[in-house]
Formats: sequence, C-alpha cells, structure tokens
Amino acid sequence: THIPYDIEAAQKGGYDTFMLKEIYEQPEAIRETLRGRVEKEKIHLEDLEKLDLEKINRVYFVACGTAWHAGIYANSLFQKWIDVPSICVAASEFRYSDPHIDDKTLCVYISQSGETADTLAALKMSKEKGAQTISIVNVLGSSISRASDVTLYTCAGPEIAVASTKAFTTQLALVTLLILKMAELRHTTVDCKAELLEGLKRMPEVVSEMLDKHELMKQYAAFLKNQEDAYFIGRQLDYVSVLEGALKLKEVSYVHADAYFAGELKHGAIALIEKDTVVIAMATQPEVAAKTISNIEETMARGANVILITTKDQPAPKFKYVIRIPDVHPLLAVIPVTILLQLFAYYAAVEKGRDVDKPRNLAKSVTVE
Ligand code: AGP
Repeated sequence: THIPYDIEAAQKGGYDTFMLKEIYEQPEAIRETLRGRVEKEKIHLEDLEKLDLEKINRVYFVACGTAWHAGIYANSLFQKWIDVPSICVAASEFRYSDPHIDDKTLCVYISQSGETADTLAALKMSKEKGAQTISIVNVLGSSISRASDVTLYTCAGPEIAVASTKAFTTQLALVTLLILKMAELRHTTVDCKAELLEGLKRMPEVVSEMLDKHELMKQYAAFLKNQEDAYFIGRQLDYVSVLEGALKLKEVSYVHADAYFAGELKHGAIALIEKDTVVIAMATQPEVAAKTISNIEETMARGANVILITTKDQPAPKFKYVIRIPDVHPLLAVIPVTILLQLFAYYAAVEKGRDVDKPRNLAKSVTVE
C-alpha cells in the first residue's frame, strides 16, 4: 500500500510550522553550539589563536536584523570586560559611514545565512582596509564564512522559517563564549566567568522551562486581537530582548511594534500610550529594574495593558500580568526572555491568520541590497 508522504509535513517534524519547530529546537541547538567548546572553566575556540588580538585597538560588531541584535548584545559584553573602544553597527550603515579601519581593527560579523549582501559587502570593505575579521554564521561554506579570517559556527541546524529564532539564541550563547575567550587572550579577568559558563551549560533546561509557558504566551498574544500597535520597553541588556521581540512581532504578525528604552518614554513616546495599548516590558537587570518598573507604571496610569517579564525576586505589586524567568545570571537573561517573546509573536501571528513561515514582503536571506 502507498503510504501518503507529505514531505513538507515530515520536514516540519510534526509541528504546524517551521517557526514553531525551530522555537522548540532551541534547547538542543544551544547544547550543540556549546558542545566541545566549554570544559570546566576552559573555553575552546581554537581558531582565535590565528588572530593577533593583542594589537587590536578598535572593534566593530556588524550585522543585520536579528543578527544585529546579537551584535548589540556582544558589544555590551565586550564593553563591560575589555578596555578597547567598540561599537555595533548595522551592516547597511557601516558600509557607508567611513569607519576608521586599519590593521589594528577587529570586525566581528554575525549572520545566520552567511549570505546577507550588506553584511558580506561590509566584510569585504573592512578586509580591503586591513581589518582582522571573525564571522559567526550558521551555514557551513557560506560566502561570509569563506571571506572571513576566522569563522565560528552556531550549530542550530538549518533554519527555514523567515523569522530567525534558534539562530539568534545560539548566536547569543556563542558570542558570550567569544567575548570571554577574547578577554582571556588579552589576560583580562572576568569575575563572573565561571557563573556564566555554568549558566550557559544549564541554558537548555532554562529554555525548556520557558517553552513550557507557551499557553500563557498564547493567552497574552490574544491581547493584540483588536490592536495594531505594541510597545516593547526595557533598559540596558533588556533592550536587546526588546528590539528582538519587536522585530519578531512585526515580521510574523504585521502588528506595528516598536522598541523603546524605558528611560526614553517620557521624552515623547508616552504620548502614544492610551487605554488598552499593549505594552510588553522587561525588568531583568537588577541595577535598573526598579527604575524601569516605575517607568512602566507610568504607562499603566494611562490605561496600557502591560505584560511584565521580570525576575523571581522583583516586587511588582501593581502588575496584573507578570512572567518570572528562572534564576539565571542577569547577563544571560536575554535568552529566556527571547523564548517568551518568540512564542508571543508566533501566537499573535497565528491569531491573525498570517503565513508564519513566509511572511509577506520578506525573504529568508536578503542577498540583494
Ligand atoms: C530575522 O528574523 C529576519 N529574518 C532578518 O532580520 C534577519 O535576521 C536578517 O536578514 C539577517 O539575516 P542573516 O542573519 O542571515 O544575515
């Protein structure tokens, strides 16, 4: 008898969409990306020995879209631990902004596909000017990997859905190892290194715990039923989650979503807040959580419907909808928060009947400028 074989259904591994499959593959993808690279307190990224990092006096992190968000995260860690000027720039801007580049410059390129035209062009431009180049990509043998001095691979497996999910969280894990390794090679001590490596090792379990909150995120996504706007708000490293959460929601549900620094709300954006406006707020960074909470309370006073993502010990008496992430080091909170925001965007898109895997106007890899 002929067994009906739906190739696409088989490729989705029983999930409705590639995006949902890839969201659920993240524990394994992070495990694979870390495999063989962390042993007790030793980080193994051998290829870095090829570079002369001692002479570096300027660093650029360059990428597009979700990968650009990973670059902002990488730059935040780099700035915290290494006393060399660094900045993260979107590749489409970097190419045309006459950046200072010479043989003492290191450029780090991040790209899931390794084929993004703006990122590849930026890479070639920086190499012509003598920069040392590292790329973090998810596709073996991609153009960006072939053009870089050193390539570090995220091991997320093929990412089919246009909206990047597992590539992003594995980029976050890998850039954490990269920056810690660079600090080590520059003989710089990072006090929380052991805690971060332990936290990365436990991350697959933390991600699974966040995936178990899918029903709750589906309920919260329903808040957007009659809304065409959403406001993502956070400070410091929470702003990375906020940028990524807003992009995910825009991409797959077509809801207009913007990311705001919590401290910036009162400089204009709060004029947009009215009754039932949906606000998704993060407060996972201890030194600024209380201040962020009070900024968010301002939006509630104007009628906003606020979903707060925060830590277990953070008081939030005025909030009705609160999700508390597991105890992870604050520098790693972006990963569990991102899982929640991916699910939020996914269910909002399903609710609105969108083509989740192939959103309108978008391509998986933007190989044109
Ligand atoms: C992310 O969900 C989008 N699909 C898009 O922003 C993507 O991150 C961007 O085009 C960069 O792609 P790359 O990582 O393959 O270079």
